[in-house]
Amino acid sequence: MLLACLYLIISSSSQLRARATEEYELARKKVSHFINASDSREIVFTRNATEAINLVAYTWGLQNIKPDDEILLTVAEHHSAIVPWQLVAQKTGAVLKFVELNGDEVPDVDNLKDMLSRKTKLVVVHHVSNVLASLVRIRRMWLNIEMSDLGYTILNTDRLCSSYQDIVLCAHDVGAKVLVDACQSVPHMVVDVQNLNADFLVASSHKMCGPTGVGFLYGKSDLLSAMPPFLGGGEMISDVFLDHSTYAEPPSRFEAGTPAIGEAIGLGAAIDYLSGLGMQKIHDYEIFLAKYLYDSLSSVPNIHIYGPVPSNHVSRAALCSFNIDNIHPTDLATYLDQQHGVAIRSGHHCAQPLHRHLGVSASARASLHFYNTVEDIDDFIWALNDAVSFFNSFK
Ligand SMILES: Cc1ncc(COP(=O)(O)O)c(C=O)c1O
Ligand SMILES: *[C@@H]1O[C@H](CO)[C@@H](O)[C@H](O)[C@H]1NC(C)=O
Ligand SMILES: *[C@@H]1O[C@H](CO)[C@@H](O)[C@H](O)[C@H]1NC(C)=O
Repeated sequence: MLLACLYLIISSSSQLRARATEEYELARKKVSHFINASDSREIVFTRNATEAINLVAYTWGLQNIKPDDEILLTVAEHHSAIVPWQLVAQKTGAVLKFVELNGDEVPDVDNLKDMLSRKTKLVVVHHVSNVLASLVRIRRMWLNIEMSDLGYTILNTDRLCSSYQDIVLCAHDVGAKVLVDACQSVPHMVVDVQNLNADFLVASSHKMCGPTGVGFLYGKSDLLSAMPPFLGGGEMISDVFLDHSTYAEPPSRFEAGTPAIGEAIGLGAAIDYLSGLGMQKIHDYEIFLAKYLYDSLSSVPNIHIYGPVPSNHVSRAALCSFNIDNIHPTDLATYLDQQHGVAIRSGHHCAQPLHRHLGVSASARASLHFYNTVEDIDDFIWALNDAVSFFNSFK
Protein backbone atom coordinates (compact mmCIF):
# COMPACT_ATOMS: atom_id res chain seq x y z
CA MET A 1 0.00 0.00 0.00
CA LEU A 2 2.70 2.40 1.05
CA LEU A 3 4.77 1.38 -1.94
CA ALA A 4 1.82 1.93 -4.26
CA CYS A 5 1.33 5.42 -2.81
CA LEU A 6 4.97 6.27 -3.21
CA TYR A 7 4.88 5.04 -6.77
CA LEU A 8 1.86 7.23 -7.48
CA ILE A 9 3.52 10.27 -5.96
CA ILE A 10 6.73 9.73 -7.86
CA SER A 11 5.05 9.06 -11.18
CA SER A 12 2.73 12.04 -10.87
CA SER A 13 5.63 14.22 -9.84
CA SER A 14 7.46 13.15 -13.01
CA GLN A 15 4.49 14.16 -15.06
CA LEU A 16 4.38 17.44 -13.20
CA ARG A 17 8.05 17.88 -13.80
CA ALA A 18 7.63 17.29 -17.53
CA ARG A 19 4.71 19.67 -17.58
CA ALA A 20 6.71 22.36 -15.74
CA THR A 21 9.54 22.05 -18.27
CA GLU A 22 7.07 22.17 -21.14
CA GLU A 23 5.35 25.29 -19.77
CA TYR A 24 8.70 26.95 -19.05
CA GLU A 25 9.82 26.36 -22.64
CA LEU A 26 6.44 27.53 -23.89
CA ALA A 27 6.97 30.78 -21.94
CA ARG A 28 10.30 31.18 -23.73
CA LYS A 29 8.49 30.80 -27.06
CA LYS A 30 5.97 33.41 -25.98
CA VAL A 31 8.72 35.91 -25.17
CA SER A 32 10.45 35.10 -28.42
CA HIS A 33 7.28 35.59 -30.41
CA PHE A 34 6.40 38.76 -28.49
CA ILE A 35 9.62 40.51 -29.55
CA ASN A 36 9.76 38.70 -32.91
CA ALA A 37 13.06 36.88 -32.32
CA SER A 38 13.83 34.47 -35.14
CA ASP A 39 14.48 31.58 -32.74
CA SER A 40 13.40 31.04 -29.13
CA ARG A 41 16.94 29.88 -28.32
CA GLU A 42 17.86 33.55 -28.51
CA ILE A 43 15.91 34.15 -25.29
CA VAL A 44 17.73 33.61 -22.00
CA PHE A 45 15.64 33.82 -18.83
CA THR A 46 17.27 35.81 -16.05
CA ARG A 47 15.97 37.12 -12.72
CA ASN A 48 15.50 40.60 -14.18
CA ALA A 49 16.93 43.08 -16.67
CA THR A 50 19.76 43.95 -14.30
CA GLU A 51 20.91 40.34 -14.29
CA ALA A 52 20.58 40.19 -18.07
CA ILE A 53 22.90 43.19 -18.46
CA ASN A 54 25.38 41.75 -15.97
CA LEU A 55 25.29 38.46 -17.88
CA VAL A 56 26.40 40.25 -21.05
CA ALA A 57 28.98 42.30 -19.13
CA TYR A 58 30.63 39.31 -17.44
CA THR A 59 30.57 36.99 -20.44
CA TRP A 60 30.64 38.88 -23.76
CA GLY A 61 32.13 41.98 -22.11
CA LEU A 62 35.08 40.40 -20.32
CA GLN A 63 35.78 38.22 -23.34
CA ASN A 64 35.72 40.95 -25.99
CA ILE A 65 36.61 44.26 -24.37
CA LYS A 66 40.28 45.15 -24.19
CA PRO A 67 42.33 48.04 -22.73
CA ASP A 68 41.53 51.41 -24.36
CA ASP A 69 38.42 50.03 -26.06
CA GLU A 70 35.43 52.30 -25.66
CA ILE A 71 31.92 51.60 -24.40
CA LEU A 72 29.47 54.26 -25.48
CA LEU A 73 26.45 55.02 -23.30
CA THR A 74 24.06 57.92 -22.75
CA VAL A 75 23.81 59.99 -19.56
CA ALA A 76 20.17 58.91 -19.40
CA GLU A 77 20.86 55.22 -18.76
CA HIS A 78 19.42 53.47 -15.73
CA HIS A 79 22.03 52.58 -13.09
CA SER A 80 21.63 48.93 -14.03
CA ALA A 81 22.90 49.77 -17.53
CA ILE A 82 25.81 51.90 -16.26
CA VAL A 83 27.34 50.19 -13.24
CA PRO A 84 28.02 46.76 -14.85
CA TRP A 85 30.01 48.56 -17.57
CA GLN A 86 31.94 50.55 -14.97
CA LEU A 87 32.93 47.19 -13.49
CA VAL A 88 33.93 45.90 -16.93
CA ALA A 89 35.94 49.07 -17.57
CA GLN A 90 37.74 48.68 -14.24
CA LYS A 91 38.58 45.07 -15.00
CA THR A 92 39.63 45.55 -18.63
CA GLY A 93 41.03 49.09 -18.83
CA ALA A 94 38.32 50.12 -21.25
CA VAL A 95 36.91 53.66 -21.28
CA LEU A 96 33.26 54.66 -20.83
CA LYS A 97 32.03 57.56 -22.94
CA PHE A 98 28.70 59.27 -22.42
CA VAL A 99 26.45 60.96 -24.91
CA GLU A 100 24.71 64.01 -23.45
CA LEU A 101 21.26 65.45 -24.05
CA ASN A 102 20.52 67.90 -26.85
CA GLY A 103 18.48 71.11 -26.59
CA ASP A 104 15.22 69.14 -26.70
CA GLU A 105 16.34 67.30 -23.57
CA VAL A 106 16.67 63.99 -25.38
CA PRO A 107 19.85 61.92 -25.85
CA ASP A 108 21.78 63.41 -28.75
CA VAL A 109 21.75 60.56 -31.24
CA ASP A 110 23.72 62.53 -33.85
CA ASN A 111 26.42 63.11 -31.29
CA LEU A 112 26.34 59.41 -30.43
CA LYS A 113 27.09 58.59 -34.05
CA ASP A 114 29.92 61.16 -34.10
CA MET A 115 31.44 59.56 -31.02
CA LEU A 116 31.59 56.11 -32.63
CA SER A 117 35.02 55.01 -33.77
CA ARG A 118 36.97 51.83 -34.35
CA LYS A 119 37.69 51.91 -30.60
CA THR A 120 33.98 51.53 -29.80
CA LYS A 121 33.17 47.93 -28.91
CA LEU A 122 29.72 48.39 -27.47
CA VAL A 123 26.88 50.91 -27.49
CA VAL A 124 24.54 50.69 -24.50
CA VAL A 125 21.36 52.61 -25.03
CA HIS A 126 17.85 52.66 -23.58
CA HIS A 127 14.89 52.42 -25.93
CA VAL A 128 12.51 54.57 -23.84
CA SER A 129 13.79 56.69 -20.97
CA ASN A 130 12.25 56.01 -17.55
CA VAL A 131 12.79 59.69 -16.66
CA LEU A 132 12.62 61.72 -19.88
CA ALA A 133 9.84 59.67 -21.50
CA SER A 134 11.74 60.02 -24.77
CA LEU A 135 12.09 57.33 -27.39
CA VAL A 136 15.51 56.66 -28.87
CA ARG A 137 15.09 55.77 -32.53
CA ILE A 138 17.28 52.73 -32.55
CA ARG A 139 16.21 52.16 -36.10
CA ARG A 140 15.26 54.95 -38.52
CA MET A 141 13.71 52.52 -40.91
CA TRP A 142 11.61 54.96 -42.89
CA LEU A 143 14.73 56.83 -43.96
CA ASN A 144 16.76 53.76 -44.79
CA ILE A 145 13.96 52.37 -46.89
CA GLU A 146 13.35 55.71 -48.57
CA MET A 147 16.97 56.16 -49.53
CA SER A 148 17.37 52.69 -50.98
CA ASP A 149 13.95 52.79 -52.61
CA LEU A 150 14.98 55.98 -54.34
CA GLY A 151 18.05 54.16 -55.61
CA TYR A 152 20.54 56.24 -53.63
CA THR A 153 23.84 54.67 -52.82
CA ILE A 154 24.99 55.58 -49.37
CA LEU A 155 28.43 57.01 -49.92
CA ASN A 156 31.06 57.08 -47.24
CA THR A 157 32.09 60.65 -46.66
CA ASP A 158 34.61 61.82 -44.09
CA ARG A 159 32.09 60.96 -41.42
CA LEU A 160 31.77 57.34 -40.50
CA CYS A 161 28.05 57.42 -40.78
CA SER A 162 25.46 59.89 -41.91
CA SER A 163 22.34 61.30 -40.39
CA TYR A 164 20.08 59.03 -42.41
CA GLN A 165 21.62 55.91 -41.00
CA ASP A 166 20.43 54.37 -37.77
CA ILE A 167 22.39 53.78 -34.57
CA VAL A 168 22.73 50.05 -35.12
CA LEU A 169 23.95 50.45 -38.68
CA CYS A 170 26.51 53.04 -37.63
CA ALA A 171 27.69 50.95 -34.69
CA HIS A 172 28.01 47.85 -36.85
CA ASP A 173 29.94 49.94 -39.40
CA VAL A 174 32.73 50.40 -36.87
CA GLY A 175 32.49 46.83 -35.59
CA ALA A 176 30.66 47.67 -32.36
CA LYS A 177 27.76 45.74 -30.85
CA VAL A 178 24.58 47.33 -29.52
CA LEU A 179 22.78 46.51 -26.28
CA VAL A 180 19.29 47.97 -25.96
CA ASP A 181 17.73 48.44 -22.54
CA ALA A 182 14.12 47.86 -23.53
CA CYS A 183 12.66 47.76 -19.99
CA GLN A 184 10.42 50.72 -20.72
CA SER A 185 9.51 49.90 -24.32
CA VAL A 186 8.68 46.18 -24.36
CA PRO A 187 5.67 46.63 -22.00
CA HIS A 188 4.25 49.58 -23.95
CA MET A 189 4.80 49.15 -27.68
CA VAL A 190 5.57 46.70 -30.45
CA VAL A 191 9.25 45.77 -30.18
CA ASP A 192 10.68 43.76 -33.04
CA VAL A 193 14.25 42.64 -32.42
CA GLN A 194 14.80 41.58 -36.02
CA ASN A 195 13.77 45.00 -37.20
CA LEU A 196 15.84 46.82 -34.56
CA ASN A 197 18.74 44.56 -35.45
CA ALA A 198 20.36 45.17 -32.04
CA ASP A 199 22.75 42.49 -30.80
CA PHE A 200 21.40 42.31 -27.25
CA LEU A 201 18.15 43.49 -25.72
CA VAL A 202 16.93 43.20 -22.14
CA ALA A 203 13.62 43.61 -20.30
CA SER A 204 11.94 42.75 -16.99
CA SER A 205 8.70 40.87 -16.40
CA HIS A 206 7.37 42.99 -13.55
CA LYS A 207 7.02 46.00 -15.84
CA MET A 208 5.02 43.83 -18.28
CA CYS A 209 2.20 42.96 -15.85
CA GLY A 210 4.12 39.77 -15.03
CA PRO A 211 5.60 38.61 -11.72
CA THR A 212 8.84 39.86 -10.17
CA GLY A 213 11.92 37.63 -10.27
CA VAL A 214 12.10 37.00 -13.99
CA GLY A 215 13.41 38.96 -16.94
CA PHE A 216 15.14 38.09 -20.14
CA LEU A 217 18.07 38.65 -22.40
CA TYR A 218 17.67 38.50 -26.14
CA GLY A 219 20.97 37.87 -27.91
CA LYS A 220 21.74 37.03 -31.50
CA SER A 221 22.43 33.29 -31.83
CA ASP A 222 25.98 33.61 -33.11
CA LEU A 223 26.92 35.91 -30.22
CA LEU A 224 25.30 33.71 -27.56
CA SER A 225 26.97 30.61 -29.01
CA ALA A 226 30.40 32.22 -28.73
CA MET A 227 29.89 33.45 -25.16
CA PRO A 228 31.36 31.65 -22.14
CA PRO A 229 29.03 30.68 -19.26
CA PHE A 230 27.99 33.25 -16.68
CA LEU A 231 27.17 31.24 -13.54
CA GLY A 232 28.22 27.61 -13.13
CA GLY A 233 26.01 24.82 -11.82
CA GLY A 234 23.24 22.44 -12.77
CA GLU A 235 21.25 22.83 -16.00
CA MET A 236 23.98 24.77 -17.82
CA ILE A 237 26.27 21.79 -18.43
CA SER A 238 26.63 19.14 -21.03
CA ASP A 239 29.00 16.81 -19.11
CA VAL A 240 30.70 17.30 -15.77
CA PHE A 241 34.01 15.69 -14.86
CA LEU A 242 35.92 16.24 -11.64
CA ASP A 243 38.37 18.69 -13.19
CA HIS A 244 36.32 20.31 -15.92
CA SER A 245 32.92 20.47 -17.57
CA THR A 246 31.51 20.99 -21.00
CA TYR A 247 28.67 23.40 -21.39
CA ALA A 248 25.20 23.21 -22.82
CA GLU A 249 24.22 25.20 -25.88
CA PRO A 250 22.44 28.52 -25.36
CA PRO A 251 20.09 29.36 -23.77
CA SER A 252 20.68 26.62 -21.15
CA ARG A 253 24.36 27.57 -20.94
CA PHE A 254 23.28 30.81 -19.25
CA GLU A 255 20.58 29.38 -16.99
CA ALA A 256 22.48 27.72 -14.15
CA GLY A 257 20.49 26.24 -11.29
CA THR A 258 16.77 25.71 -10.92
CA PRO A 259 15.22 28.38 -13.10
CA ALA A 260 12.44 30.75 -12.03
CA ILE A 261 9.91 28.29 -13.48
CA GLY A 262 6.74 29.72 -11.95
CA GLU A 263 7.78 33.29 -12.67
CA ALA A 264 8.63 32.55 -16.31
CA ILE A 265 5.27 30.84 -16.81
CA GLY A 266 3.64 33.88 -15.18
CA LEU A 267 5.47 36.13 -17.63
CA GLY A 268 4.10 33.97 -20.46
CA ALA A 269 0.57 34.54 -19.11
CA ALA A 270 1.22 38.30 -18.93
CA ILE A 271 2.37 38.25 -22.54
CA ASP A 272 -0.84 36.44 -23.56
CA TYR A 273 -2.77 39.17 -21.76
CA LEU A 274 -0.85 42.06 -23.37
CA SER A 275 -1.01 40.45 -26.80
CA GLY A 276 -4.73 39.91 -26.33
CA LEU A 277 -5.15 43.66 -25.80
CA GLY A 278 -2.83 44.34 -28.73
CA MET A 279 0.49 46.16 -28.33
CA GLN A 280 -0.24 48.67 -31.06
CA LYS A 281 -3.55 49.51 -29.40
CA ILE A 282 -1.83 49.85 -26.02
CA HIS A 283 0.79 52.11 -27.57
CA ASP A 284 -1.68 54.34 -29.40
CA TYR A 285 -3.75 54.79 -26.24
CA GLU A 286 -0.66 55.53 -24.14
CA ILE A 287 0.58 58.14 -26.62
CA PHE A 288 -2.79 59.84 -26.19
CA LEU A 289 -2.59 59.56 -22.37
CA ALA A 290 1.00 60.84 -22.46
CA LYS A 291 0.02 63.98 -24.33
CA TYR A 292 -2.94 64.57 -22.00
CA LEU A 293 -0.70 64.10 -18.95
CA TYR A 294 1.97 66.44 -20.32
CA ASP A 295 -0.52 69.16 -21.31
CA SER A 296 -2.38 68.93 -18.01
CA LEU A 297 0.82 69.09 -15.96
CA SER A 298 2.07 72.04 -18.01
CA SER A 299 -0.77 74.12 -16.57
CA VAL A 300 0.59 73.78 -13.01
CA PRO A 301 2.45 76.99 -12.04
CA ASN A 302 6.25 76.88 -11.58
CA ILE A 303 6.55 73.32 -12.88
CA HIS A 304 9.50 71.93 -14.85
CA ILE A 305 8.74 68.79 -16.80
CA TYR A 306 11.80 66.94 -18.06
CA GLY A 307 12.21 65.51 -21.53
CA PRO A 308 10.86 66.50 -24.92
CA VAL A 309 7.78 68.60 -25.64
CA PRO A 310 5.25 66.34 -27.38
CA SER A 311 4.25 67.35 -30.91
CA ASN A 312 3.12 65.77 -34.14
CA HIS A 313 6.66 64.51 -34.69
CA VAL A 314 7.64 63.81 -31.10
CA SER A 315 5.67 61.43 -28.94
CA ARG A 316 6.37 60.78 -25.31
CA ALA A 317 5.93 57.67 -23.21
CA ALA A 318 3.10 57.90 -20.70
CA LEU A 319 5.14 59.28 -17.82
CA CYS A 320 6.33 62.68 -16.64
CA SER A 321 9.20 63.48 -14.32
CA PHE A 322 8.96 66.97 -12.93
CA ASN A 323 9.86 69.43 -10.22
CA ILE A 324 7.87 72.32 -8.82
CA ASP A 325 9.86 75.32 -7.59
CA ASN A 326 10.62 75.24 -3.87
CA ILE A 327 8.78 71.99 -3.14
CA HIS A 328 10.74 68.83 -2.56
CA PRO A 329 9.50 65.93 -4.74
CA THR A 330 9.42 63.61 -1.73
CA ASP A 331 7.11 66.02 0.12
CA LEU A 332 4.86 66.06 -2.94
CA ALA A 333 4.82 62.29 -3.25
CA THR A 334 4.11 61.79 0.46
CA TYR A 335 1.28 64.33 0.48
CA LEU A 336 -0.31 62.91 -2.69
CA ASP A 337 -0.13 59.41 -1.27
CA GLN A 338 -1.42 60.18 2.21
CA GLN A 339 -4.02 62.83 1.43
CA HIS A 340 -5.27 61.66 -1.95
CA GLY A 341 -4.20 58.05 -2.46
CA VAL A 342 -2.30 59.03 -5.60
CA ALA A 343 0.93 57.06 -6.04
CA ILE A 344 3.78 58.91 -7.74
CA ARG A 345 7.45 58.24 -7.25
CA SER A 346 10.10 60.63 -6.04
CA GLY A 347 13.87 60.36 -6.06
CA HIS A 348 16.48 59.84 -8.76
CA HIS A 349 14.65 56.88 -10.36
CA CYS A 350 17.96 54.99 -10.61
CA ALA A 351 19.27 57.68 -12.95
CA GLN A 352 21.53 59.86 -10.80
CA PRO A 353 23.88 60.90 -13.63
CA LEU A 354 20.86 62.08 -15.63
CA HIS A 355 19.50 64.11 -12.69
CA ARG A 356 22.93 65.66 -12.17
CA HIS A 357 22.97 66.51 -15.87
CA LEU A 358 19.54 68.16 -15.47
CA GLY A 359 20.91 70.13 -12.51
CA VAL A 360 18.67 68.55 -9.86
CA SER A 361 19.17 65.78 -7.35
CA ALA A 362 15.67 64.34 -7.55
CA SER A 363 12.34 64.61 -9.32
CA ALA A 364 8.75 63.53 -8.91
CA ARG A 365 7.43 61.08 -11.50
CA ALA A 366 3.91 60.15 -12.49
CA SER A 367 3.75 57.03 -14.67
CA LEU A 368 0.77 55.52 -16.43
CA HIS A 369 -0.06 52.27 -18.18
CA PHE A 370 -2.96 51.21 -20.38
CA TYR A 371 -5.27 50.72 -17.40
CA ASN A 372 -5.14 54.42 -16.50
CA THR A 373 -7.69 56.91 -17.77
CA VAL A 374 -8.09 60.61 -18.46
CA GLU A 375 -10.08 60.78 -15.19
CA ASP A 376 -7.06 59.39 -13.30
CA ILE A 377 -4.96 62.20 -14.76
CA ASP A 378 -7.58 64.81 -13.85
CA ASP A 379 -7.70 63.47 -10.28
CA PHE A 380 -3.92 63.56 -10.10
CA ILE A 381 -3.72 67.16 -11.32
CA TRP A 382 -6.42 68.20 -8.87
CA ALA A 383 -4.52 66.52 -6.03
CA LEU A 384 -1.25 68.03 -7.18
CA ASN A 385 -2.70 71.54 -7.18
CA ASP A 386 -3.99 70.91 -3.68
CA ALA A 387 -0.52 69.74 -2.60
CA VAL A 388 1.09 72.83 -4.11
CA SER A 389 -1.32 75.15 -2.24
CA PHE A 390 -0.67 73.22 0.95
CA PHE A 391 3.11 73.58 0.74
CA ASN A 392 2.95 77.16 -0.50
CA SER A 393 0.77 78.12 2.48
CA PHE A 394 3.87 77.75 4.68
CA LYS A 395 5.86 80.34 2.73
C1 LIG B 1 15.11 51.77 -18.14
C2 LIG B 1 15.32 50.72 -17.10
N1 LIG B 1 16.39 49.91 -17.20
C3 LIG B 1 16.61 48.95 -16.30
C4 LIG B 1 15.78 48.73 -15.24
C5 LIG B 1 16.12 47.63 -14.27
O1 LIG B 1 15.14 46.65 -14.22
P1 LIG B 1 15.23 45.54 -13.09
O2 LIG B 1 15.34 46.26 -11.77
O3 LIG B 1 13.97 44.79 -13.21
O4 LIG B 1 16.43 44.74 -13.33
C6 LIG B 1 14.65 49.54 -15.10
C7 LIG B 1 13.71 49.39 -13.99
O5 LIG B 1 13.93 49.72 -12.86
C8 LIG B 1 14.43 50.57 -16.05
O6 LIG B 1 13.37 51.38 -15.95
C1 LIG C 1 9.25 39.39 -37.72
O1 LIG C 1 10.42 39.61 -38.46
C2 LIG C 1 10.38 39.08 -39.78
C3 LIG C 1 11.77 39.27 -40.37
O2 LIG C 1 12.14 40.62 -40.34
C4 LIG C 1 9.30 39.80 -40.55
O3 LIG C 1 9.23 39.27 -41.88
C5 LIG C 1 7.97 39.60 -39.87
O4 LIG C 1 6.98 40.35 -40.51
C6 LIG C 1 8.06 40.04 -38.40
N1 LIG C 1 6.84 39.63 -37.73
C7 LIG C 1 5.98 40.50 -37.25
C8 LIG C 1 4.79 39.94 -36.55
O5 LIG C 1 6.13 41.71 -37.34
C1 LIG D 1 17.48 40.72 -9.88
O1 LIG D 1 18.73 40.17 -10.24
C2 LIG D 1 19.72 40.25 -9.22
C3 LIG D 1 21.01 39.75 -9.82
O2 LIG D 1 20.92 38.41 -10.16
C4 LIG D 1 19.26 39.47 -8.00
O3 LIG D 1 20.22 39.59 -6.99
C5 LIG D 1 17.92 40.02 -7.55
O4 LIG D 1 17.44 39.26 -6.48
C6 LIG D 1 16.92 39.95 -8.71
N1 LIG D 1 15.62 40.45 -8.30
C7 LIG D 1 14.57 39.65 -8.16
C8 LIG D 1 13.27 40.29 -7.77
O5 LIG D 1 14.62 38.46 -8.34
